[in-house]
Parts: sequence; structure tokens; C-alpha cells
Amino acid sequence: MSQHTFQLNGRRVTVDVDDDVRLLWVLRDVLGVHGPKYGCGINVCKACTCLVNNKAVQTCVTPVSSVAGKRVTTIEGLADGDTLHPVQQAWLDLDVPQCGFCQPGQIMNVVGLLKAKRNPSDADIDAIENMCRCGTYGRIRQAIKKVAAAMP
Ligand code: FES
Ligand code: FES
Repeated sequence: MSQHTFQLNGRRVTVDVDDDVRLLWVLRDVLGVHGPKYGCGINVCKACTCLVNNKAVQTCVTPVSSVAGKRVTTIEGLADGDTLHPVQQAWLDLDVPQCGFCQPGQIMNVVGLLKAKRNPSDADIDAIENMCRCGTYGRIRQAIKKVAAAMP
């Protein structure tokens, strides 16, 4: 075991786990942060997506040792107090979620996409690999376009 310190949703945290423990398990089982979901564990479904230094990563394949000193943001850290992040608000406005299981990963990936590209093309949206068994892809596309159109 060794200690790993990083910023989690603006708060400094230190965990004592082996270097190769994946971030998803540290978040869920050690730190009790359950927004990131376990779907496949092999970087296929993307349900575990969070931001590391503002870039979307799949936490099921990210060793905790690789985020030392970095900023980790989960769905729990997106809102500003009572004010939802614009992506969260668009998801609500357009009624995107069905069962909801995949949605934290979907939202975090879209937040990462919009940080990299303010006005993503249809091809950029097509390249999103997050899986949704409920088939909310059409509404996700509409919500992304709504947020992008409202961005300054
Ligand atoms: S749980 Fe990480 S990609 Fe599926
Ligand atoms: S909303 Fe059910 S899996 Fe995506």
C-alpha cells in the first residue's frame, strides 16, 4: 500500500491503496463517491468516465497512482452550489435520462468534449463512445447542441 493525494471535486484527498488500484474503485469503494458507474471494467462502456485535469478519462482503467497531484472531477463536482452545470441543465430540460445508469459518464464525457471544442460537429458527437442501453442517443445529441449554441 502507498499513499496517493489528489484533488477530488475541489477537495484534497489522500488514500492508502496499492499503486495499480483503478481510480473507479478508489472513488466508489474508498471515498464513497458513487456517481461514476461500473459497467464493464475494460474501457468499453464508458459509464465510469470522469475528468482528470479537465480531460475525460475512463476511471476503470486509470491507476490511482497516475492521478497523484491532479484534479479529479466526478458528476458530484459539476454543479456550482445549487446551480447546475449547463450540461446537467440541458439534460434536464430535454429529458435525456431514462434509467439513468449511463448518464453520469455521458455527461462527464460531454463536459470534457465541450472543454476541448466549444462547437462540436456531428462527427465529434458521433465519435462519443459512451453506451446507453436505453437508447438516449438522439436526446444526447440535441442536448449537446443546445449547450453549444448557448455558449459565449
Ligand atoms: S466501466 Fe469503465 S469503460 Fe465500462
Ligand atoms: S439511460 Fe439507461 S443506460 Fe443510458
